[in-house]
Amino acid sequence: MSHDLFEAAQEAMAKAYAPYSKFPVGAALRTEDGRVFTGANIEVASYPEGWCAETTALGHYIMGGGGKIVEIAVIASRMAKCSPCGGCRQRLAEFCRPDTKLYLCDNGGVVETVTMGDMLPYGFRGDILK
Ligand code: THU
Repeated sequence: MSHDLFEAAQEAMAKAYAPYSKFPVGAALRTEDGRVFTGANIEVASYPEGWCAETTALGHYIMGGGGKIVEIAVIASRMAKCSPCGGCRQRLAEFCRPDTKLYLCDNGGVVETVTMGDMLPYGFRGDILK
């Protein structure tokens, strides 16, 4: 089930634009109804203006109609088990549930499976803002 998502993340990573860090990252999300959205990190010469692979994937997911996210895979060729940064954890949590699976990968496949609840315990929830 998760290997194809790993492969989608790997394909996305190949499209990363990371000339400054030389640290390509790929992310892939799957929705409950089986749609897959991918993204890579995109860097900018003004460094803080770049953004992460997970954020690119979320942009594609929203433009593709959104829905319930059930699985996420993240890969970085230069680091086994690259886990989403703090900002991306918050962005992903906006569209996930605590039991959403997150696959941490290396170049061979999924190395560890955790949940979004593991990644962002006690995260800020916007329920009160609605
Ligand atoms: N990066 C991601 O794309 N996702 C993460 O979860 C961690 C970091 C990117 C941002 C930047 O382009 C490069 O990795 C080095 O920080």
